Amino acid sequence: MAKMKTELESIRELVRACGLFIKDADRGHLHIDAKSGRADLVTQYDKQVQERLRKGLLEIMPDAHFVGEEGTTQTFSPVGKFFIVDPIDGTTNFVKGYNFSSISVALVVDNAAELGVVYNPYADEMFYAQRGQGAFCNGKPLHVSNEPLENGIVVFGTAPYHEELNEKTFQLAYDYFKKALDIRRSGSAALDLCTVAAGRAELFFELFLSPWDFAAGALIVTEAGGIVTDCDGRPLAYDHPCSVLARNQP
Ligand code: IPD
Ligand code: CA
Ligand code: CA
Repeated sequence: MAKMKTELESIRELVRACGLFIKDADRGHLHIDAKSGRADLVTQYDKQVQERLRKGLLEIMPDAHFVGEEGTTQTFSPVGKFFIVDPIDGTTNFVKGYNFSSISVALVVDNAAELGVVYNPYADEMFYAQRGQGAFCNGKPLHVSNEPLENGIVVFGTAPYHEELNEKTFQLAYDYFKKALDIRRSGSAALDLCTVAAGRAELFFELFLSPWDFAAGALIVTEAGGIVTDCDGRPLAYDHPCSVLARNQP
């Protein structure tokens, strides 16, 4: 008898298909709109992928609710099953053809992240984790690095839609730059978290992120043995934006 697909396998299959859709996008005909400000962009692909994920995820788990970045009628609540989805994390990279964006899907049940899937279609890297079962990339277990920050790389996000955080962000980046080997800024917070989970960098911070940016990636980091809090050491919440600090060791 054929083996039944798990929910996680079905989610990964759906996310992979959406990833290939953005990778093969007709970038010559992008409809680009600004949302909260001139750097906060959305394209028809963000909206189409979100709709495809909404339909597909609710087919896989009909009793779940769906919260996505690109307009959603449902709001997160600490009770119940919620998919928290970023259809394209790294839209500016997508618009520029920078080839570093991802699709991020988390399943949060009664306020605890249960599943996280982040797919980079350009590198064909599928990162995923299930609570208590470890984190993986393309089937291989992930573990955070054992290196101290002095031998490490720090990745950070610029909170580009929040000008008031610019100075603090770059001061912090400068402080970490002096402590670590070097710093990086990729343009996809979900992939930044996976970069820490994979042991390719030792620390990630960003002073303002929304739950769809971090919900899946944060689970992948903790399942890879890392620690994720906000920048004041508090646990992350799924009902409002916050700062995020992910690291390999305390
Ligand atoms: C953005 C990316 C970026 C981060 C921003 C996010 P978006 O997501 O994750 O790396 O710096 O804060 O908003 O808008 O491309 O989905
Ligand atoms: Ca995002
Ligand atoms: Ca997005």
